[in-house]
Amino acid sequence: MPSSLRAPTRRPPGPSLTLAGPAADPTMADVDVIRVAGAARLAGEVAVVGAKNSALKLMAAALLAPGRTVLTNVPRITDIAIMAEVLRRIGCGVAFGPGEVAVDVPEALAAEADYDLVRRLRASICVLGPLLARRGLARVAHPGGDAIGSRGLDMHIAGLEAMGARVSGAHGFVIAERGHRLRGAKIRLDFPSVGATENLLMAAVLADGETVIDNAAREPEIVDLCAMLTGMGAAIAGAGGSTLHVTGVEGLRPVRHATVGDRIVAGTWAFGAVMTYGDVTVTGVDPQCLAVALDKLVDAGAMVETRGAAGFRVRMDGRPRAVDVATLPYPGFATDLLPMAIGLAAVAEGASLITENIFDGRFMFINEMARLGAAVRTDGHHAVVRGLPALSGAPVRATDIRAGAGLVIAALTAEGETTVSHAHHIDRGYPDFVAQLRHLGAPVSRAAAPAEPSFGF
Ligand code: EPU
Repeated sequence: MPSSLRAPTRRPPGPSLTLAGPAADPTMADVDVIRVAGAARLAGEVAVVGAKNSALKLMAAALLAPGRTVLTNVPRITDIAIMAEVLRRIGCGVAFGPGEVAVDVPEALAAEADYDLVRRLRASICVLGPLLARRGLARVAHPGGDAIGSRGLDMHIAGLEAMGARVSGAHGFVIAERGHRLRGAKIRLDFPSVGATENLLMAAVLADGETVIDNAAREPEIVDLCAMLTGMGAAIAGAGGSTLHVTGVEGLRPVRHATVGDRIVAGTWAFGAVMTYGDVTVTGVDPQCLAVALDKLVDAGAMVETRGAAGFRVRMDGRPRAVDVATLPYPGFATDLLPMAIGLAAVAEGASLITENIFDGRFMFINEMARLGAAVRTDGHHAVVRGLPALSGAPVRATDIRAGAGLVIAALTAEGETTVSHAHHIDRGYPDFVAQLRHLGAPVSRAAAPAEPSFGF
């Protein structure tokens, strides 16, 4: 056990997190704002750590094996603190060390993830599959929709039912039960859903017989989950492809696993470099995971040099050209980079057509971009953006993680000061965002340090 890890603590059920809350709380209002003094050029080197959207699922996967699983390269963000609380309430001990989280999983697990936590972290739904597989019963609050759109669970549920689970809903909970064991099944997803693929994978690894998941999601975070599960003793073939073959095993063992680098954080820096005529080297991520996005930046006029699997450098000398972007499941252009694509289009030369194909509410932040002066019109899932030489600083509001980061980056192309409120959204997904921006030369500040979530790494 690494000496840096504190002894795991068991906590009684009940809220115990101190998280940066919304600005509706007057004592939080100042803290919850990121100020951008004006335009700046991003330059320098920035290291990206593990992906939020991988680490959260890896923490859930730890539930599959009694004993201590240690995850490394874990980002220091509030979503990870909330997932730790979800696991604690299920009966696990969770301890943090520098960049690490240790999850101590007992033989006997509780079955419930309540709405109080699920509403703060939609990804809590990913405990459904592992809890059902290990415990035989899972009661997870229905996450509902959020600021990027309605977010269905039908594929999660249909897949678990195909494996023999009985799934029902009552009082805002999804309740899944199985008999002795889940059984392997042939499942074809309507759409390569990231969350459904993950839940079904984590259920299938302990099922009786072979499960085939067709039209599976292919995101690097799925590949990372497959690698961890394989390290735990699971039998999975096809990771990174559209068809996953999982042969169930009797039991899994805990593991030590390093989280894959965060391609969305890396992509955010890459777009920031291009929008600000900057020069940024990003390490800690395989540029192959961002191939389509980096190609778009090259089309916009950027120079991109890759450094094997270790990172890349993006340089931009003049005003970017307009490029059209359509988001798609991996390996297509990531929906989580859509706000950055809108920001780029807003300052590019010419008009861009930006199409969102994954979430029905992803354009909800567009009015905030318009407050910064962006010339943007939406029609259904399309946005037409007419590029302007510069934006104009204004008070705006972060509506979700990616919109928040996109607004801060866009503010770096604006004349005058911008304040981005509800910055707690950004803390959910971007570790040390303000410090990293300052390191790259941006005149950005936070009124005060955000309230510390209850973790110590
Ligand atoms: N969908 C259904 N039914 C289902 C499952 C999904 O209709 O059973 C729909 C959703 O409503 C959505 C689309 O399918 O319109 C895509 O959903 P998907 O399941 O692929 O996404 P997710 O698992 O809910 C994860 C990330 C998102 C990221 C998407 C797409 C996590 C915790 N979240 O969401 O990340 O945008 O995949 O890549 O992994 C973020 O980090 O800010 C974020 C939103």
